[in-house]
Amino acid sequence: MAKKVMIMDTILRDAHQSHAATRMRTEQMIPVLEQLDEIGYYSLEGWGGATFDSCMRYLNEDPWERLRTLRKYLKKTPIQMLLRGQNLLGYRNYADDLVERVVDKSFENGVRVVRVFDALNDPRNIESSMKAIKKYGEKYGGVCEAAISYTTSPVHTLEYFVKLAKTYESMGADNICIKDMANLLLPFDAFELVSALKKELDPKTKIHMHTHNTTGTGDMVNLMAIRAGVDIVDTALSPLGNGTSQPATEPLVATLKGTEFDTGIDLEKLIPIANHFKKVAKELEDEGSLNPKVRQVDVNTLIYQVPGGMLSNLMNQLKKAGKEDKLSEVLAEVPNVRADCGYPPLVTPSSQIVGTQAVLNVISGERYKMVSNETKDLFAGKYGQLPMPVNEEVAEKILKGAKRITYRPADDLEPEYAKLKAEVVEKGYYTQEEDVLSYASFPEVAENFFKWRKAKNEGVDSDLLKTGVYPV
Ligand code: CO
Repeated sequence: MAKKVMIMDTILRDAHQSHAATRMRTEQMIPVLEQLDEIGYYSLEGWGGATFDSCMRYLNEDPWERLRTLRKYLKKTPIQMLLRGQNLLGYRNYADDLVERVVDKSFENGVRVVRVFDALNDPRNIESSMKAIKKYGEKYGGVCEAAISYTTSPVHTLEYFVKLAKTYESMGADNICIKDMANLLLPFDAFELVSALKKELDPKTKIHMHTHNTTGTGDMVNLMAIRAGVDIVDTALSPLGNGTSQPATEPLVATLKGTEFDTGIDLEKLIPIANHFKKVAKELEDEGSLNPKVRQVDVNTLIYQVPGGMLSNLMNQLKKAGKEDKLSEVLAEVPNVRADCGYPPLVTPSSQIVGTQAVLNVISGERYKMVSNETKDLFAGKYGQLPMPVNEEVAEKILKGAKRITYRPADDLEPEYAKLKAEVVEKGYYTQEEDVLSYASFPEVAENFFKWRKAKNEGVDSDLLKTGVYPV
């Protein structure tokens, strides 16, 4: 039986997040949205992740307005978003009432598929979001996609991932995504993992592959996943595809054409859209947001088993400390620190925490003599449950009897929506309920944006907008 492979194109989100620090503007998307809508994609990823922050911080755009604009043009194709579990669109844990409001408003403004993940793969950290996605998505035919943060370690075995996927399925996930943000997943492992998930999960549950092409294996990962029966794969149109972004869309469409996995996508229709994004990529390069280096294959991840971004952070930290010669020692220390803290996947924020601690352990000359607060919090369970128990000797040394938690970290949080709303109203910035959610996510960034918006709406002359008082 023909097994059509579906494609999510990331051109409106992860592609420019990965290549151009999330700097694509809505106006650079609009000219081709109607054409994108005609392609027949499973979904178009266009919101969430870093877009929310970047819209306000760098582009003077209301992220909610962007979403409504996308919805206006994308009449047939579902808009997909990325949600960081209890961290929502920001970088801290939010109270459950905010989780509800963000998910509700995301659907109301146009999102139809929500991919939700937790960096540590702690199901308790995505439980609230999943409940909200099921509840508020229902009337829109919304899809709840739970993502596994893929990583490698002695505990991250095939059995571990299958068990986690089953847990997410039992919590209500319609789709299971394998989220390989660092491109650590190798093609033959992808085949095994997808095969196991197809075998063990409900046939109605769709498997969605998300990888990058950072290490050059991305196309092979996708192809092997397809041969193992994956339902959906993520690609990015070629001008912002490959390298640190997703493998390019066009080669995969061509590869599968006429086979049992045919995507049904017409390659010819992609050409004019790709031509448009070629111009956009050039604009992003000219303004300094896109460094062509991001398109190159970087084999460091394959060699050192740490994500590309983490390696450059380590090198920067060592450079600042004048200890560049210690890189190989630090790279050897990373797996030790990671084992001590129970093998967290190396993604934001755990990659920074483990990396910084490895640097401290090496340059101070004694392990855990200097300890960051984040390391303490990680050991204390404040980011969630770690895949394995932590090294107790280390935990005692660094926590010195400080409080450790075994319950869901967000259980400590009081409802916060009403208080935040009162603040936004009092400051005179309230124009819509969504403003409260922007403010909750990035208080200072949102306030700067609100000031700019107010000045613009009140007709303050454009010279004032350019003085630097407001971020133009
Ligand atoms: Co990604």
